[in-house]
Amino acid sequence: MAVPPLAASLSDAVSAALATAGVFEVAPRIRRSQHADFQADGVLASAGALRRDPRALAAEVAAALPTGDRLAAASVAGPGFVNLDLTDGALLDQLAARLADPRLGVGTPESGVTTVVDYSQPNVAKEMHVGHLRSTIIGDALVRTLEHLGGDVIRRNHLGDWGTQFGMLIQRLVEHPEPPASMGRLLEIYRTAQAQFEADPAFADRARQRVVALQSGDRATVAVWRELVDESERYFTEVYDRLGVRLTPADAVGESAYNAALPGIADELERAGIAVISDGALCVFADFSSTPLIVRKSDGGFGYAATDLAALRQRVGDLHADRLLYVVDARQSLHFRLVFAAATRAGWLQATVSATHVAFGSVLGRDGRPFRTRSGGTIRLIDLLTDAVDRARTVVAAKNPDLTGAALDERAQAVGIGAVKYADLATGRSRDYVYDPDRMLALTGDTGVYLQYAHARIRSILARAGSARTQVDATAPLHAAERALILDLDGFAETLSEVVASYEPHRLCAYLHRLAQTFTAFYDQCPVLRATGPTRTNRLALCHLTGDTLHTGLTLLGIEAPDQL
Ligand code: ARG
Repeated sequence: MAVPPLAASLSDAVSAALATAGVFEVAPRIRRSQHADFQADGVLASAGALRRDPRALAAEVAAALPTGDRLAAASVAGPGFVNLDLTDGALLDQLAARLADPRLGVGTPESGVTTVVDYSQPNVAKEMHVGHLRSTIIGDALVRTLEHLGGDVIRRNHLGDWGTQFGMLIQRLVEHPEPPASMGRLLEIYRTAQAQFEADPAFADRARQRVVALQSGDRATVAVWRELVDESERYFTEVYDRLGVRLTPADAVGESAYNAALPGIADELERAGIAVISDGALCVFADFSSTPLIVRKSDGGFGYAATDLAALRQRVGDLHADRLLYVVDARQSLHFRLVFAAATRAGWLQATVSATHVAFGSVLGRDGRPFRTRSGGTIRLIDLLTDAVDRARTVVAAKNPDLTGAALDERAQAVGIGAVKYADLATGRSRDYVYDPDRMLALTGDTGVYLQYAHARIRSILARAGSARTQVDATAPLHAAERALILDLDGFAETLSEVVASYEPHRLCAYLHRLAQTFTAFYDQCPVLRATGPTRTNRLALCHLTGDTLHTGLTLLGIEAPDQL
């Protein structure tokens, strides 16, 4: 059962008080404050609209709020805010109610909403790069959060498994057959084929013929293509497993899947007069852009744009999506604006469905330039992850000299992968960030490791206390640091809703980081194991709820939270 956050209950109470003062239909915002537990605004704006003195109106509202066993005090603050303080009992009741619920009181506001999330999207026979890493990590965090809030999520790994580049690759393999190749070998073949395509016009012609053969379903050609896709998917799955990301081959619906729908898309747009021929190509123009969306190229071939239109129509029409998310590099923002605009005009995207390009910035090297190998090549994702886990092993081993073998490996994996993910997610997604393995594995600071240690420390406190899930004694008085912790804990559900409203997982990172700091302040000032009676019970309850909140929050970010580190 969802437990409404204290701020939500207060908002209702202030609305009722405003109504007593003659102000209706205002949803006051309740925020945490330096000067009281919470502060309500909303009075100010209404006073302006009603030409009433804001402080006088705030005083009326404060007077109309019933103080007693829940609300300790309500008073006017500043130009027309209302300060609100809760009783210790109200805070402890809230703690007890949330602790009693396995979902920590978080509701399911997403239930009944279907979201299609398009993420990861690596390209067949090509190395995954850090851009794919970002898409995968951000997409995974959004999927987990939406599902946790009760939403129906359909994952779509929009693999780059189609296009003219397969012509040269398949042609090269047909002319130089070899047994099913590993991903590393495929990359080499790709490079050789590309060089030959550029240097040898006769080969380039045969490669173009091969594209036609592939598109018309020639069996031998399709068989080679299938092998390339299968091998690449094996490799992608290895990366997803290493990352602990919930993407399986069943979620992969690549560009090729929409091939048959492309001529229909073009026809429909052309017949409706939405797409027009320009320089031989079929284009949809938009008033906000000088470059059009190219639905069909002048050589008659379809590309990326037509595929995205077909995918969109299918996701809305057949999958009945209420919301479409595309977790893709910010450099593709014009593409998505054009796709959404064309789909809206075609009637495939109606006002009841939201479509959002969840854009993200670039990963930079320590020199501030795009993150690449020294020779300018793409960094293999698997190598990058292996390096992070190796570094994490050193960090973990230094803290636990007794830990060896599989146990050490397991924790190094949790810490190393967690560090990579947290560093990515903690930065506002639209910003670029510098990939710095030393900084992201720091034990203090805004890192995944810091949060994992905070969580493990709480588990060890609870293990030493030897208590099962604790009771709360709502009659015991609270220390200021305990009050602060209860209030921070109570912001969890709202934070998750904000993540979903903005598609910004960094809000959850920031929340968890602050929570860990508030916990540290509490633990410094309020002895837990040495306390007795109801004080001890309540403090253990606080440890429980903080530990569970950190665990749930990290899990929603896709980060492991082991009990011991
Ligand atoms: N495969 C593309 C790339 O690597 C990204 C695809 C993004 N998704 C989409 N529906 N267009 O750049």
